[in-house]
Amino acid sequence: MLQVKNISASYQQRPVLEGISFQVEDGEFLGIIGPNGAGKTTLLKIMTGVKSPLTGEVMLDGKKMSSLCRKEIAMIMAVVPQSSFIPPLFTVEDVVLMGRYPHQKSRFVTTEEDIKAVEEAMQKTNTSNFRQRPVNELSGGERQEVIIARALAQEPKILLLDEPTASLDIKHQMRILGLVRTLVKENGITAIMVIHDLNLAARFCDRLILLHNQKIYAQGVIKEVLTSQNLKEAYEVETMVEYNDFIGALQVVVK
Ligand SMILES: Nc1ncnc2c1ncn2[C@@H]1O[C@H](COP(=O)(O)OP(=O)(O)OP(=O)(O)O)[C@@H](O)[C@H]1O
Ligand SMILES: [Mg+2]
Repeated sequence: MLQVKNISASYQQRPVLEGISFQVEDGEFLGIIGPNGAGKTTLLKIMTGVKSPLTGEVMLDGKKMSSLCRKEIAMIMAVVPQSSFIPPLFTVEDVVLMGRYPHQKSRFVTTEEDIKAVEEAMQKTNTSNFRQRPVNELSGGERQEVIIARALAQEPKILLLDEPTASLDIKHQMRILGLVRTLVKENGITAIMVIHDLNLAARFCDRLILLHNQKIYAQGVIKEVLTSQNLKEAYEVETMVEYNDFIGALQVVVK
């Protein structure tokens, strides 16, 4: 579904990523972790075609990303960015409808399908009860759920999320990541998420990539990546990684 081949990137000659290669399959939930400044957001920007790599190529559905236009990319992939500007005064419903852009022949015509997708997206994210409210009056967490609803309305095959739970409380963190996981497992969507919370990553992702020193420092299933040794190397902290019976997943405790 998505292949990242030998990507290198820099900002003003300063290298940020070097020789990054990996592949994500249909129905897989991949987590990208790594310390602040490791290049996670840069990698997502390259994967969405927002930033061009210095070397390498991203392949989407077997096609070179660089050969696709924005609308073609948006037909396949939706993004929940780390921070996003939403123009004030738009209602929640307006913003979710914006997700339909790649499917619309004309900006001024809303079809039955658009309405259905918007309704479904709002229902899944529990945002329908504030559909008429202007987005600038929402709390940070509510706004984040609206951005996720917009991405779902796009009906993507690939969903990219940059720290989607950063402004959510514990209940909403669980709900949103549970929703992404359901979309992956039941609808065969591919999800790629940057996340700082290692315990949430361990719980919801199938596989992890740990970025450190411009490279993929470790990749694999949770227990291969979340080792005390890897975490010490990448984050410079002492940790204990233990299987937690209560939730049925590995959990990281920092000393
Ligand atoms: N537009 C830019 N111009 C110059 N340098 C940049 C730019 N964007 C990012 N960088 C630098 O590139 C490096 C990687 O940034 P990036 O945002 O990809 O990190 P990150 O892993 O997402 O970090 P965080 O966990 O803090 O979000 C950082 O050192 C950052 O300062
Ligand atoms: Mg980032």
